[in-house]
This record gives sequence, structure tokens and C-alpha cells, in this order.
Amino acid sequence: MSSPDQPVVLTCAQPTGQLHLGNYFGAVRNWTTFLDSHACYFGIVDQHAITLPYVPAELRQSCYKTLALYIACGLEPEKCNLFLQSHVTGHTELAWILACLCPLGQLERMTQFKDKAARQEEGGAGFIGSGLLYYPVLMAADILLYNADVVPVGEDQRQHVELTRDLAMKFNATYSDTFKIPKVEIPKQAARIKSLQDPTRKMSKSDPNQGGVIYLLDEPNIVTKKIKSAVTDSGSEVRASEDKPGITNLLHIMSASTGRSIEDLEQEFAGSQYGVFKAAVADAVVEMLTPIQERYKAIADDKKYLEGVFKSGADAAQKRAFKMLSKVNRKAGFIERAR
Ligand code: TRP
Repeated sequence: MSSPDQPVVLTCAQPTGQLHLGNYFGAVRNWTTFLDSHACYFGIVDQHAITLPYVPAELRQSCYKTLALYIACGLEPEKCNLFLQSHVTGHTELAWILACLCPLGQLERMTQFKDKAARQEEGGAGFIGSGLLYYPVLMAADILLYNADVVPVGEDQRQHVELTRDLAMKFNATYSDTFKIPKVEIPKQAARIKSLQDPTRKMSKSDPNQGGVIYLLDEPNIVTKKIKSAVTDSGSEVRASEDKPGITNLLHIMSASTGRSIEDLEQEFAGSQYGVFKAAVADAVVEMLTPIQERYKAIADDKKYLEGVFKSGADAAQKRAFKMLSKVNRKAGFIERAR
């Protein structure tokens, strides 16, 4: 599958059980580009998922669904290691050691912590769990446990990867050179896919207006309906420009779905009405989603298969993780347990 001299790419995502077009074009599809050139570790971070109030049975289902979606999107288990964070010993252990090096103030200043904490105070659990504050340290451990070279993430995770780099340098300086300093990789397309109902905002699963969000498992008629009801702009020209956020978004979606350039699409639809253009966008998205949905349907209920994928992913991940963990424990001054 992968050879020891290949660079290591690692990324993780929470088990949401759903993916939308923004997740696909901005993240998952980008990860597939590493499959042949890198040793790939893709984690589903169930331990991060419990930092906010949740329902255990739903978490479990979401983990299976998320795995099936990843495979359906082309993350072939033969070519990458797909694993559950809680299956691999070392994530929380390393997080503890890193936490002891991490200034409290740096965690309190994290943008995502402040946003999530504010929402918890407004409604959520009635208190802010320490895990929410500690979240970025666990994420740093996810990355450093594999000594990853490249970490592709969305713009919203940049601050967390920067903290990871700080902690890696701090560990190296405090003990001795151990961790590679990981590189952040932010794919350009990530932020480009906007809500169909408010094209000034990113497509997001927490959008109160779900009509603006296309999920990979949306039925063709739903996809078409959502695209046909997308807000458009004044004027009638199909052209990408700043004063046309709605049409620009649809052009980006069609371009990402077909691989055709924006210019090429502008030419084809020069003089077309918005309705004609929208129908073509809908067809393109449905065509792109069809094989993903077929593959998903074929595997989603096959628990045995999915568990097998989790097992081999965790076996490979654990092998790498144990090496790093024992090195780290030794450097931190812990006595190795006799065997
Ligand atoms: N915090 C990331 C997100 O919400 C998920 C994540 C956890 C992650 N650990 C990671 C991403 C390690 C990259 C690497 O998207």
C-alpha cells in the first residue's frame, strides 16, 4: 500500500454522518489526490465529538455513516488508512503530555473555543466542558502522533494547526528533537462553495436554511429543487463576478462537478436564461453524485465490511502511533513498562 519513505498525510474530521458539497469539493475530494503519492491516515475523531452535548447511539451511527461516505467518495480502504480515533491508543495519552506544555491563555484565545463556548452558555449544556477548551490539544496530538508531513484542513482550522506547530516546537525544545513541524495545507476551493440561499456565506450543515445546502446523499429531485430555488442576482447574464454572488456560486459548483473551467461555462451559457443554466447545473451535480450514492448504498448497511475497514485502519494507525508514543514517553521521563 504505502512505502516507508513516502511522506505522511494526516487529516481528521468529526463524525457528522453527513457531507455536503462544500465538504466534498473543499476537503474529501482533495484528500483523494494524496492516495498514490503519500502514506495516508484519515481519522474520524469520535473523541472530539463528545466535547459538545451528544447522544451516544447517534454518535455510533454517525461514525459508520461517515466512514461509508468517505469510501463512497473515493477514499479506497486499499489505498489509505481510515480509522476511528478511539480505536488507537495514543491520541489522549499524547494530548495529556502536550497539555502540560500548553499555556492556558493560548487555549482561551482560540477563536473556535470562544465561539463554541459562547453558544454553550446561550443554550447548550448549561456549562462549558473542559474538553472544549482542551480540544485543540487533542487535535495537536492527532497530528503529532503520526509525525505527519502534511495536514490538509479548511481555513477555520488554521489556528489549531498553528498551535500544533507551536507545541511541536515546544516539545522539541523542552526534551529533544522529536516531532516534524507539520505543514498546513488549505485547498483553495474550500471556501468557494456558498449557501444557495445566501451566497455570501459558506455552505454549512448548521445553516438554519437547509434549502441552501446540498448533501451528497440528497435524492436527485431534491438536488434539482434546491438548485432551481437558489437565489440569483439582478441582471440576466451568466457570468462570474463580485456583484453576482449567486450565479458565481452556481458556476463554481458546476465547474467543480464537471471539471470544466468557469470561462468555458460562461461561454456555453452566454445568452442563456438563468432557468436554463440552473437546470444544467442541477444535471451536472446529479450526474456527479450518482456514483457516490450508488457506492454508498452498496456498503452503508454492511456493518461487517465497515468494521473490517475500521480494524485494518486502526491496526496500521496503531503501529505508527505506538512507535511515536513510546519515544515521547521515554523523552518525557516515563519508565518503560517491562515486558
Ligand atoms: N478540528 C477538526 C475539524 O473540526 C477535526 C480534526 C481533529 C482534525 N483532529 C484533527 C483535522 C487533526 C486535521 C488534523 O474540522
